[in-house]
Amino acid sequence: MKYKILSNKWRPQTFDQIIGHKYIIKIIKNSLDLKRIHQSWLFSGMHGVGKTTIARILAKSLNCKTGITSRPCRICSHCIDIEKGKFLDFIELDAASKTKVEDIKIILDSIQYPPIQGRFKIYLIDEIHMLSRHSFNALLKALEEPPRYIKFILATTHLNKIPDTIISRCLHINLLHISLIKISRYLKDILDQDNIHIDEEILNAISNSAQGSIRNALNTLELITSSMQEKKLKKKNIYKILGVFDKKKIFILADNIINNNINNIFKILDDVENMGIQYDQIILSLITFFHNLSIIKITESLKDSPKKNLSVYNHKIYILSKKILFKDTQIYCKILIQGRKYLKYSPNPRIGIEIIFLQIYQYIKENNNFQ
Ligand SMILES: Nc1ncnc2c1ncn2[C@@H]1O[C@H](COP(=O)(O)OP(=O)(O)OP(=O)(O)O)[C@@H](O)[C@H]1O
Ligand SMILES: [Mg+2]
Ligand SMILES: [Zn+2]
Repeated sequence: MKYKILSNKWRPQTFDQIIGHKYIIKIIKNSLDLKRIHQSWLFSGMHGVGKTTIARILAKSLNCKTGITSRPCRICSHCIDIEKGKFLDFIELDAASKTKVEDIKIILDSIQYPPIQGRFKIYLIDEIHMLSRHSFNALLKALEEPPRYIKFILATTHLNKIPDTIISRCLHINLLHISLIKISRYLKDILDQDNIHIDEEILNAISNSAQGSIRNALNTLELITSSMQEKKLKKKNIYKILGVFDKKKIFILADNIINNNINNIFKILDDVENMGIQYDQIILSLITFFHNLSIIKITESLKDSPKKNLSVYNHKIYILSKKILFKDTQIYCKILIQGRKYLKYSPNPRIGIEIIFLQIYQYIKENNNFQ
């Protein structure tokens, strides 16, 4: 059988297989079941959260031979052709390569012809933000009042570049990032089905590095599982692939920050550099670390018997949290977040991250806030 990359192998084919977007899926299913279907849809959201996937399921739902349905049958010739990318009335276009008004005019000319195969002729126009201003203008009328057999589905990762006039003519659906927990659970399900075991800590690290995108997570998982076939990968090497520092090292770094040991901090930065890890990743991991620490500090202090039910790692964080004031955890997070924003303006990333640590160093020196 032809090898399929994970993200294609696992592309959901029904609404029920979509991860996250619970309420949005409910709304789409309802509108299909009630047969109240908008003529133009706009899906926005970051890469790999399901825009194209949902658009394709929608195309099946509108053209399934069993009738307009929120549960396309997947066995009629229309459903099968759409899944194979061969359905004549489902036209997928990449606006990035058709930005000119002439290109759009050709598309608009073709909407006067009714569908050949299906109930609806559906245009999925991806990367719609790439269109020129003239092209957007040319599209306006078609989006508002297309022939009844035409449906438009627009998709974009850059909503801010879409004119309001376009947005207001569409049913706009914004797909949010997928939560870390949902991504982790999904990856575990996939691995279970293939009988592959990966440490939970690593799954969490993969999910974290995906930054809300399921495609990112699947691609990283693919990279890691394909290297695992040769030999069992050591955690250290997996973290290298992920380009992140492992949990223990982040803990040590945070400990040194809290103890204001600037020499050790700079030594750890040398390790980061040698491992080829991006400084931005370190800053992100530290923000997450101090945020978790502040939550553990505050929630444990409210309990009658603190530290019960804490994992070994969180217990270590709890002990560390006693050395720092709650207010300071927030200040560190703030310095890290602001520093990250300005990283790109520093002469180089190393200087950028050193500036951040020196700011924290100076803050601690001035306040001497050990607890
Ligand atoms: N919500 C989701 N549930 C399950 N799998 C998903 C989801 N979103 C994305 N995926 C996985 O990621 C792959 C890519 O998704 P999709 O093509 O829908 O992303 P997209 O939002 O259109 O991204 P892009 O902006 O890059 O076009 C899918 O094949 C699927 O495996
Ligand atoms: Mg897409
Ligand atoms: Zn069907």
